Amino acid sequence: MKIKKAVFPVAGLGTRFLPATKAMAKEMLPVVDKPVIQYAVEEAFSAGIEQIIFVTGRGKKALEDHFDRSLELEYNLKIKKKYDLLKAIKELVPETGTIIYTRQNQPLGLGHAIWCARDIVGNEPFAVLLADDLIKSDVPVLSQMIPQFDKLQSSIVAVTEVDKNKTDQYGILDAAQIDKNIVEINAMVEKPAPDKAPSNLAIIGRYILTPEIFHYLGKNKKGSGGEIQLTDAMHSLLKKQSIFGYKFKGDRFDCGDKAGFQMANLAFAMERSDIKDKLLKYIKTLG
Ligand code: UTP
Repeated sequence: MKIKKAVFPVAGLGTRFLPATKAMAKEMLPVVDKPVIQYAVEEAFSAGIEQIIFVTGRGKKALEDHFDRSLELEYNLKIKKKYDLLKAIKELVPETGTIIYTRQNQPLGLGHAIWCARDIVGNEPFAVLLADDLIKSDVPVLSQMIPQFDKLQSSIVAVTEVDKNKTDQYGILDAAQIDKNIVEINAMVEKPAPDKAPSNLAIIGRYILTPEIFHYLGKNKKGSGGEIQLTDAMHSLLKKQSIFGYKFKGDRFDCGDKAGFQMANLAFAMERSDIKDKLLKYIKTLG
């Protein structure tokens, strides 16, 4: 079955970026000159996704406006003959009707945010993208995962090895290698302390899930941090269905973290001929 829908949970409070996120969604913070969320939306469309479902919350109006036309801005760019910019801002607006917004009325956790999209997703497999995880790769990660899903016909999550001391920041897997880049998951646990973690194989923010996940998310069971966790629902789903981990190819930046966000800016700026030399020159002057 073709993966046509992608859910983007963007209702978190972004407390690690306060005060920047007091009135603005963290997903709107720019990496070079594009908001973090735009990278993920482009990734989804390039992988063949036809419908984007944003689960938003308070203070996310700028995000909705970003993916909508701004006739006033278009008019101004046109009379100033800034045609390249005009083209860029027109191109980023998806065809009308391909974006659906729903709201999570309380930030009860990632699992709860995804559950809010249950009626829009319906009874078909779907993707979930966490824009915070920005991945620089030749082939976008979702495009790497969809062929794996086509083969396995079961839920699949992007995974990577993390520092053993940092397992308490991730969903961590107990899994067995079954193919070159594929593991079969036996168990998963959200944010285990390093001495309790079954491995250092962590879930990164790209998922393809079967609709049965909504049954477990709907139990509204609180887990780590008092939040309704997607990892816990997936762990329960394991009793009924196999779930696989895919070791993706690419460099991942955690844009939900201040250091990770700055590193993403550096890495993406280095790919830009208009910025690279100025930036390198400046970096060389630093300590
Ligand atoms: P995070 O764990 O990064 O939480 O959420 P957060 O609230 O966004 O940020 P901090 O930790 O306070 O700085 C991971 C993803 O899940 C979404 C977030 O928007 C982010 O994409 N999320 C989280 C929701 O949509 N709703 C929630 O209740 C929690």
